[in-house]
Amino acid sequence: MLRAFLFDTLSGAKIRIRRQIRRTNTGKGHTNLTMTIGRIADRKRAELARRREQSEQGGGPARIEAQRRRGKLTARDRIALLLDDSTFEELDPFVLSRPTDFDPPGKSHHPGDAVVTGHGRVNGRLTFVYSQDFTVSGGSLSEVVAQKICKAMDLAASAGAPIVGLIDSGGARIQEGIDSLSGYGSIFHRNVRASGVIPQISAILGPAAGGATYSPALTDFVAMVSGIGQMYITGPDVIKSVTGEVVSLEDLGGAEIHASRSGVAHFSFESEETCFAELRRLLGFLPQNNMEDPPEHRGADDPARTDEALAHLIPDSANEPYDMLAVVVRAVDDGVFMQVHEGFARNILVGFARMDGRTVGIVANQPNHLAGVLDIDASSKAARFVRFCDAFNIPIVTFIDVPGFMPGTSQEYGGIIRHGAKLLYAYAEATVPKVSVLTRKAYGGAYIVMSSKNLRGDVNLAWPTGEVAVMGAEGAVNIIHRTRIRSSDDSDETRRRLVEEYEERLMNPYIAASRGLIDNVIDPAETRPRIIRALEMLRNKRETLPPKKHGSIPL
Ligand code: HXC
Repeated sequence: MLRAFLFDTLSGAKIRIRRQIRRTNTGKGHTNLTMTIGRIADRKRAELARRREQSEQGGGPARIEAQRRRGKLTARDRIALLLDDSTFEELDPFVLSRPTDFDPPGKSHHPGDAVVTGHGRVNGRLTFVYSQDFTVSGGSLSEVVAQKICKAMDLAASAGAPIVGLIDSGGARIQEGIDSLSGYGSIFHRNVRASGVIPQISAILGPAAGGATYSPALTDFVAMVSGIGQMYITGPDVIKSVTGEVVSLEDLGGAEIHASRSGVAHFSFESEETCFAELRRLLGFLPQNNMEDPPEHRGADDPARTDEALAHLIPDSANEPYDMLAVVVRAVDDGVFMQVHEGFARNILVGFARMDGRTVGIVANQPNHLAGVLDIDASSKAARFVRFCDAFNIPIVTFIDVPGFMPGTSQEYGGIIRHGAKLLYAYAEATVPKVSVLTRKAYGGAYIVMSSKNLRGDVNLAWPTGEVAVMGAEGAVNIIHRTRIRSSDDSDETRRRLVEEYEERLMNPYIAASRGLIDNVIDPAETRPRIIRALEMLRNKRETLPPKKHGSIPL
């Protein structure tokens, strides 16, 4: 039928055009030809506009209204907020999902299906985006939705540009069964292939359930918006029926939980507007791909600026906390530090800043929280960040004040050994410039882990308050002078005197400096210019690892 119709239409058109040409050749009907073609072209343009509008309408006004009532923006609103104005170029607005056995008679398939994909600019730089449209079948992933996402991912990888996935989906399109599962598989595979090649970012702006959580989890950064974004493998109902546990959706998989307890989310934002503004800021720190250096943005901050306040930050008592964030903020350009994983494992700080206009990744022990100890979460958090920086040519600046690894059965049973080893591995493997500043303690294994010379730290600086030792004075004295203390008439006084002696002799940076394990002891006020000069010296650093398929990192 269709063929016959097309044949008739085409033959009819050909005959009409031949007649017009004959008339034109005889000098008559020229205006007529233009008008006929013009009318056809106008009709086709009008049809394009109609189809485009239909595609852009998503699930239609009622569902858009319902989306807004849920406190969520539409897929297209979101793209508009992420990208620079009028830069969005859409891909595949007319694809149609495959009919399924479950379709009611006459079901119309929505052009573009449940995702909007394409590319545009973020601060003038090419960026790919896919935005799941909850107003069409709950944003669920059909075979063609997966194909659209995969096409955008493939283009992003070959164009060498970041991709941002905006997630708002009921998961696999249930009616399409295995075809939608297979679609997820194709996305996961591309996530892994693109890992370390282009930055991949996910924003969770609605449900992300079951296996659908794994694409975001495979990307470099996951942002969630409070109140609307939820991630979980199984929902509250399944949990209740399997384990009897009762939990709300928000307590199970909301933004706060994932940004503070599970560590699945790197960022949690109060609103979608803030989320997109911050993602744009994040992209501004990153290179477009692993073959590029990060972009440079030189501000007003003088690279030679010294800061007296840094000399007065360390408290007199070794066990008294202070805020390492203040050190970081005072050292970097314009005091701007974009923390990653801010609410998770707060005993270590990681994030991006600039020094003399160039992006650096900051890793810093935080004495203000759990004395800055390295535990399972802190090790995992920092290891992931170090590896990201290394993959994307971002130098790493480490501020060290670490009393050691966290003791206790929960840490040992949870695998602190393998998690700590992960951070050690990440630093040892990283070939980007590595500069460190020891502000106070660097004890035991934690000293080695934190960008030490033995892990090929390039420039290791220490403040005069730095202490490199196997362990704290108290612990060391209790072990090496146990008999002396026990046999003394006044064991407390003997211990106090021995601790004092130990501190005097060993708790300083000069023994490590005398062995070249610390390159220089610096005035804290000079921290910023010293780091900047070290980074400048390392600008063309080249270091390669032995040929191998990949290492076997402890996970
Ligand atoms: C098809 C879906 C859908 C899905 C939602 N819809 N999820 N259609 N496949 N997976 C449709 C609904 O039928 C509804 O259509 C519309 O989207 C909006 O959904 P509501 O339920 O009205 O919205 P809301 O109350 O906000 O609830 C959202 C929701 C809920 C929490 C996501 O819809 C839900 O629980 N959906 C099912 C989630 C799920 O179990 N997914 C499969 C997971 S398995 P109408 O036409 O009625 O408006 C999976 C495997 C992946 O994803 C494995 C990868 C390896």
